[in-house]
Amino acid sequence: GRVCLAYSGGLDTSTILKWLILEGYTVVCFLANVGQEEDFAEVEKKALALGAEKMVIEDLQREFVEQLVFRAIQCNAIYEDRYLLGTSLARPVIARAQVRVAEQYKCDFLSHGCTGKGNENENARANGGNSQVRFELAFKACNPSLKVIAPWRMPEFIQRFQGRADLLKFAAENNIPVSSTPKAPWSMDDNLVHCSYEAGVLEDPNHTPPKELWTRTVDPVDAPNAPIEFTIHFEKGIPVKVVTPETEVTDSVELFKLLNKIGHDHGVGRVDIVENRFIGLKSRGCYDTPGLTIARLAHIDLEGLVMDSKVRKLRDQFCTIEWSHCLYNGMYFSPEREFLENSIQFSQANVTGQVRMMAYKGNAYTLGRSSTASNLYSEEAASMDSLEGFSPMDTTGFIAIQAIRLEKFGLQKIKDGQP
Ligand code: ARG
Ligand code: SIN
Repeated sequence: GRVCLAYSGGLDTSTILKWLILEGYTVVCFLANVGQEEDFAEVEKKALALGAEKMVIEDLQREFVEQLVFRAIQCNAIYEDRYLLGTSLARPVIARAQVRVAEQYKCDFLSHGCTGKGNENENARANGGNSQVRFELAFKACNPSLKVIAPWRMPEFIQRFQGRADLLKFAAENNIPVSSTPKAPWSMDDNLVHCSYEAGVLEDPNHTPPKELWTRTVDPVDAPNAPIEFTIHFEKGIPVKVVTPETEVTDSVELFKLLNKIGHDHGVGRVDIVENRFIGLKSRGCYDTPGLTIARLAHIDLEGLVMDSKVRKLRDQFCTIEWSHCLYNGMYFSPEREFLENSIQFSQANVTGQVRMMAYKGNAYTLGRSSTASNLYSEEAASMDSLEGFSPMDTTGFIAIQAIRLEKFGLQKIKDGQP
C-alpha cells in the first residue's frame, strides 16, 4: 500500500519512514510550512535518501493566518485564560493539507509520529497526546476512507523501540543520519504564531524556564528603554493594516510578521502555565506568542468601543470559550465550530476601526482607538444629561424596579436571621 507520512526529518519520523518501507509500504512524505524554523531542503534530502518515493513540502502560511489565526483574533480565542492556542491553530491546516496530498498521490494510508503522552518527543512537531487526537480527528473528518497508521500505538512497533537507545541502534543499522547538535532539554513546537516549550526539565512546574529557552521574544528585562508606537487597523474584526513610524503593511502574512517583530523586540507575549490536556492530564507549558498577543489585545479594545454589550456578553460566554475548546480538543472540523463561526462573523459586523498601541518592556498598551462604523459610543451621550429623550429623573424609576427583587431577597435574609 501507499502511505502519506507526516515527516519532519527527526529521529522518530525517520525511524517510522524506514520501518514503513521495511514493512513493504511505499511512502510519500509530507511536511507543512506553517512558518516554523526549518531547513526544508535538508528534510527533503533526508527523506529521499531514506527511500521515500516523494517529499511534498507545502507553504501553508497564508491559509494558516487568514483562515485560523484571524478567526482566533475575531473571537479573542484563549484557553484556560492564558494559552493563545498557537499549536492547536496550526493542526487543522496541517492535517487538511496532508489529506489533500494523500489523495493527490493515491495513498491508502495516513501516518504520523505522534506518541500517546506528548513527552520526550524527538519530533514535537508531529507528536504528543493532544496532537494525535487533533490529527486523527481531522483525518477522519476530511477523508474517512483513508486508514491511519499510528506506529506509537502499535504493539509491534512499541516493543521494538522501547527507548531512545533502540531508535539510535536502528538508525545506525539503517543509515539514518542522527543530528549531532545537542537537543534542548525540552520539547518545542513552533510556527508563525508561537513557539511552545514542554516536557523535559519543564515537567517540574516549579522549575523556572531558563533565559535561553525563549526564542521568540527578548527578555522583558532586556527590552529597549524606548517604547514603539504603532497602529492596527481592523475591518470586521480582522487586522488589515499595521502602521509603524517606519513602515505600513497590508498583506496578511506580512502584517502578522510585523506584529511578531514588534512583540519580539519588546518582550511581549510570554506565558508559563499548567494546563489541562484533552486526555485528562495536567501539563506544564511555556509559550512565546508575540504578534497574536498584541493583535488580540487591540481587537478586544476596539470591541469595547463598537460592540453591543449583550452581544459581547453572549460572545464571551459561548463563542470565545467554546471555539477555543473546539480548537484545543481537535474539533475544528465539527458542526459546532461552524455554528460558532457564524455567530462570530455576525458579532464582527461593526468591528472596524483603528487602535493606536505602544509596546514597552513586556507589555502592549492601548493609546487610543477610533471608529466610524458604529454609533454606540458618542461623546455627547457619555455625559447622560444631554441624552435626547432621557431625563435624569428617569433613573429613579430604573433603580426602583431593579430593586424589587433585591429588597425581597434582603427581607428574607433578615427574617431568617442570617447576616
Ligand atoms: N500544549 C500545547 C497544545 O496542546 C502545545 C503542544 C505542543 N508543544 C510542544 N512543545 N510539543 O496545544
Ligand atoms: C504536541 O502537541 O506537539 C505535543 C504535546 C501534546 O500533544 O500535548
